[in-house]
Amino acid sequence: MPDAAPAAAASRLAFFEDLHPSTSDFRADVLEGLTKPQKAIAPKYFYDAEGSAIFDRITEADEYYITRTELALLDRIGPELAKMAGPGAVVMEPGAGSSVKIRKLIDALDAPAGYAGMDISGEHVRAACEALAADHPDLTVGAVCHDFTRPIDLDALPLPPALSEGCRIVFFPGSTIGNFELIDALALLKTLRGWLRENDALLIGADLRKSGEVLEAAYDDAGRATADFNFNLLTRINRELGGDLDPEGFEYVAHWNPYRSRVEMYLQAVRDMDFTVSGRRFNIRAEETIHTENSHKFTVDTFQDLARRAGLVPRAHWTDEARAFSTHWLVRGPEA
Ligand code: TRP
Repeated sequence: MPDAAPAAAASRLAFFEDLHPSTSDFRADVLEGLTKPQKAIAPKYFYDAEGSAIFDRITEADEYYITRTELALLDRIGPELAKMAGPGAVVMEPGAGSSVKIRKLIDALDAPAGYAGMDISGEHVRAACEALAADHPDLTVGAVCHDFTRPIDLDALPLPPALSEGCRIVFFPGSTIGNFELIDALALLKTLRGWLRENDALLIGADLRKSGEVLEAAYDDAGRATADFNFNLLTRINRELGGDLDPEGFEYVAHWNPYRSRVEMYLQAVRDMDFTVSGRRFNIRAEETIHTENSHKFTVDTFQDLARRAGLVPRAHWTDEARAFSTHWLVRGPEA
């Protein structure tokens, strides 16, 4: 816990940590991923404490339009969101990270009652929630260390049941949904649908298709934040899984794939290399890649179709003037 956290806020904050993925999950996933014909590592492993801090740099890069566009959009639509949610809403945010966007939402809502920040990086979400609790004395705040690709018992969350009278808003900004293969995105939307009761809503951001040039720059910023983010994965493997990958033997590449409507991110070997992870030997040839991430881009229609297939009903959506990004208010429909 950071020393600077105000004591009063810290004591008000409930923190749940038991859902953290273990080192053995990390090991099993990495070893399996490196054995595939197309080597791959699941993006959730980007987010250790170091990775989460680097991610914050990505969101501030000039080329990365997503964060500032979504923040401005949330500012603009705040009054409408407040009306749709009504007073006393409770917000849950899977993958909360630094919880910057939540401040816009909390400030816009009419006397929100509670907030649960949930993130795979426990320390990161706890610090962010402590800061939020300190600034909002009337808000019940809880932090949960949770991998949102796993099931969760919502009744175990640190929100008093009395608070769940108001509208529950599941807030999933940042176009994180685009980081999943479509089949997994569908499964995740179904999971999040399961968090909703009647009249609750999923407020979710989806980045829109645009020129490949703009997209490739957004995912390969000149300040190298995204590159560092990828290299941190190698460092993490070396440190936590006793690996000996040489980061200097790799280059970071972002590639727009128009056919699959996604930016694909890779670590590409610059020479043939042998390496060891957790006692297992691997090799990679020059130009062979490790696939680290996808970021799918949608149109309003393709995103709404995906939502409908998950049993969610689009009630409203908004885009910025340049139609770079979209935010959607989805409610629970009949099970798909
Ligand atoms: N959801 C964000 C996006 O796709 C997250 C993101 C930005 C990201 N840059 C990244 C994830 C680089 C992994 C790697 O825009």
